[in-house]
Amino acid sequence: MTRAPTPQVRSAPQKRLFIKTYGCQMNVYDSERMADVLRPLGYGVVDSPEGADLVVLNTCHIREKAAEKVYSEIGRLKALRAEDPASAGMTIAVAGCVAQAEGQELINRAPAVDFVIGPQAFHKLPELLAKTGRVRGERVSSDFSPDAKFNALARPAAARKVAGPAAFLTVQEGCDKFCTFCVVPYTRGAEFSRPIEAILEEARALASEGTREVTLLGQNVNAYNGVEGGLAALVRALAAIPGLGRIRYTTSHPRDMDDALIAAHGDLDALMPYLHLPVQSGSDRVLKAMNRGHTAEGYLRLVERIRAARPDIALSGDFIVGFPGETDADFEATLDLVREVAYASAFSFKYSRRPGTPAASMSDQVDETLKAERLARLQAVLETQRQGFNAGVVGRTLPVLFERRGRYQGQIVGRSPYLQGVFTEGPETLIGQIALVDITSTGPNSLCGRLARTSCDRELA
Ligand code: SAH
Ligand code: SF4
Ligand code: F3S
Repeated sequence: MTRAPTPQVRSAPQKRLFIKTYGCQMNVYDSERMADVLRPLGYGVVDSPEGADLVVLNTCHIREKAAEKVYSEIGRLKALRAEDPASAGMTIAVAGCVAQAEGQELINRAPAVDFVIGPQAFHKLPELLAKTGRVRGERVSSDFSPDAKFNALARPAAARKVAGPAAFLTVQEGCDKFCTFCVVPYTRGAEFSRPIEAILEEARALASEGTREVTLLGQNVNAYNGVEGGLAALVRALAAIPGLGRIRYTTSHPRDMDDALIAAHGDLDALMPYLHLPVQSGSDRVLKAMNRGHTAEGYLRLVERIRAARPDIALSGDFIVGFPGETDADFEATLDLVREVAYASAFSFKYSRRPGTPAASMSDQVDETLKAERLARLQAVLETQRQGFNAGVVGRTLPVLFERRGRYQGQIVGRSPYLQGVFTEGPETLIGQIALVDITSTGPNSLCGRLARTSCDRELA
């Protein structure tokens, strides 16, 4: 692969770039890459839109609420551009999944938007911006060529922002599963896996800059097929990189959870004991109408096999309540499945009707009030389980990767192997390192602890 010459970052004029990210971690990763491709053009990231030369809204189309948020944000930016002289030259771009799904329609509905750019096209940002003056009404999207995008992102280290102790790394994109409720196959296109060499190169670069943990991202990450042996083989290759002590991956589909990956959870220390494995519903009838390709029983047996390999694994899930035709009995089946699995954490949503998806035109849509009632009941059970899981680690000593300073003087914050936030008092020099913490209590969303005395301290005491 030929590398571009090192860009003359310093000689370029400084322009202000504000990126607002909605949606999943894939968008977080994409926003960082957009900042990378714009940095050589002199764009530096700022943390508010006031006075920005370029604002990029990196959008999500998954549920109606997420998509609608974009329009209110565009309204605010339009007002800012009209009223604040420092913001008068602002270019407004809409990127991500709403850009892909709505394209020209978005420009028609929100003429304040200068251009839209789909999730597979953002490497073309420099080309667009190099055009003189404001780019008006451009639509760059829909060509679904992640290959071209990832190749264009093979970037010189000088153009990249140094990642933190824990970083995301996209390894797979797109989805061929076509669950009947979901827009992702239409916004992100077909499944595509990056070649393993490119991933290892990016991971080595991250490790050499101090990153200790990578979370491999993909809409169907365990469908990864960029190397013989799939995701399990990729994870094993990554675990051999010096300095990379922790590997996670998300999001997995139950259908692609193979024996090799389950075995890796049993024997690979670097693979963290946390797995996000969405099930959506516990009713076979609903799962079939969703086109999920698995049954409730199949999911439960899978969980058994995963727990046999790694008994302490923290499981997380996604749930949709009020899918068209969901009866009380179907919903009860979801509660039964949740009780049987006992999740460490979960995300649950009311079904949202998405234009163009098969479920949107199903006749037996569920009443909004009923959806809200079911969601509240489900969330109460999931919340109790989450607190129970957190309470279960009190008294244990866990390795914590410290990622940042806390709000209070002397406080540092990190994550346990189970992805729980951990607060403790300790020196800032521990940020970027893994240290043992005695967990003493749990708060509503996180754990508290004390730095553990090492065996060496004990020898000296
Ligand atoms: N690829 C992942 C999920 C991607 S979307 C998977 O298959 O599990 C993240 C979550 O959003 C989904 O798991 C689902 O629970 C939720 N979701 C997707 N479409 C939705 C819709 N139309 N209404 C409500 N929730 C939805
Ligand atoms: Fe959407 Fe289903 Fe694909 Fe997940 S597997 S991204 S829920 S279509
Ligand atoms: Fe949303 Fe697109 Fe991610 S629709 S959840 S940002 S793939």
